[in-house]
Formats: sequence, structure tokens, C-alpha cells
Amino acid sequence: MSLSSREILFKAPVVPVLVIEDANDAVPLAKALVAGGLPVLEITLRSAAAEESIKRIIAEVPDAITGAGTVINAKQMERMAEIGCAFAVSPGHTEGLLKAAKDTGCPLLPGAGTPSEIMNLIDHGYDILKFFPAEQQGGVSMLKAISGPLPQVSFCPTGGVSLSNLADYLALPNIITVGGSWVAPKDAVKAGDWGTITKLAQEATDKVKALRG
Ligand code: 3PG
Repeated sequence: MSLSSREILFKAPVVPVLVIEDANDAVPLAKALVAGGLPVLEITLRSAAAEESIKRIIAEVPDAITGAGTVINAKQMERMAEIGCAFAVSPGHTEGLLKAAKDTGCPLLPGAGTPSEIMNLIDHGYDILKFFPAEQQGGVSMLKAISGPLPQVSFCPTGGVSLSNLADYLALPNIITVGGSWVAPKDAVKAGDWGTITKLAQEATDKVKALRG
């Protein structure tokens, strides 16, 4: 049985947001992150190698929970469900995207950054959202303010989140987890430095565990 967004994000100390340029990097990168305690992976559709990378990780890294990121329209949503993504993430949302997510049954983490966008998603039945771009939209103080009138919604903030500020986000009651690209720096991926990536992932995992128990 497939997992809901909530169940998936509960398994993620941090969600790595990945841009994979070479599909040959996909499997070692995913294994490096899983080895560092980060099994929930968001592979963004921002590169030509994204779909092939997702397929390879699904086939070869069974311990990973593999999702597609930057899914911005119905066609992409349908395709990601078809190739077996465990979930999809979008920086925002459109009516077409939400309908496709509902039709496919693939869990979607839709993006929102304002109270009206959040209210629209509540109307569509969502209570777990991506808050994007987190730092630019007001970060921790914005999320704290939102929790007053809209306490029923939890967020995964991404965009400018890193090891240095994740504790501030996780201290809020309406944060389920955080996401970011810092655990897989482009240079390390390009160099095939999987040891560094496991170390960064482990560092993030340890910090979240220390904060949350
Ligand atoms: C995302 O798509 O969630 C962001 O691009 C990740 O932002 P970051 O690179 O600032 O972590």
C-alpha cells in the first residue's frame, strides 16, 4: 500500500532536493543519502536526466522513498505517477495539477507561500504543504504568524533552509520536516564524492534527531 504525504515526511529528518544532471550519478547519490539517514528523496524535474534518474533509483535503491520535485503541471504529475514515484512535490499549485494528483492517487506536496494559497489548498483537502521559497517568503516568522489563523496545516519549508537554520524551523509546531539542497552540493556530486554527501546527510540526520528525539 502506498504511503501518504504525512507518512512519507515523518520518515524524513530532511528531504534532499536534488538536481541530477547525469543519470549515472543517480544511484550512488541516492545510496549515499540513504546511508546518511535520509531515505526520502526529491529529484527535481529541472534536468534532462531527471526522469531516467528517478527510474534508476526506484529500480536499484529499494530503501529510498523516491519522489519527483518541480512537478508543475498535470502532464508531469501523470507521468511521475506512471513511472512509480512515491510522491510528487510542486513549488506552487494550479487547479490542473491538483486534479491530476487526485486522479492519479499519487501523494502531492503542493507549494504555497501566502494565506490565500494555503486556504485554497485547505479547500482542496490538503493539510501538509511545501512552504516555498521559505526564507524569501518570511521564513520562521511568517510560519509562526500563519500558525495563528491556520493551525490545521503543517509545512515542509524549502528554499534557503540549511543546517544553520533548521533548528529554528523545527522548533515551530507547524513544521513536519524541512527540505534543501545543501546535503548534496553540486561539486560533490560532479566529483562523485559520495563520502562527503553521506557525511552531510548524517550531520543533518543527527541534528534533527538531537532536536526531536
Ligand atoms: C526547492 O526547490 O525546494 C529549492 O530549490 C531548494 O532550495 P535550496 O537550494 O535553497 O535548498
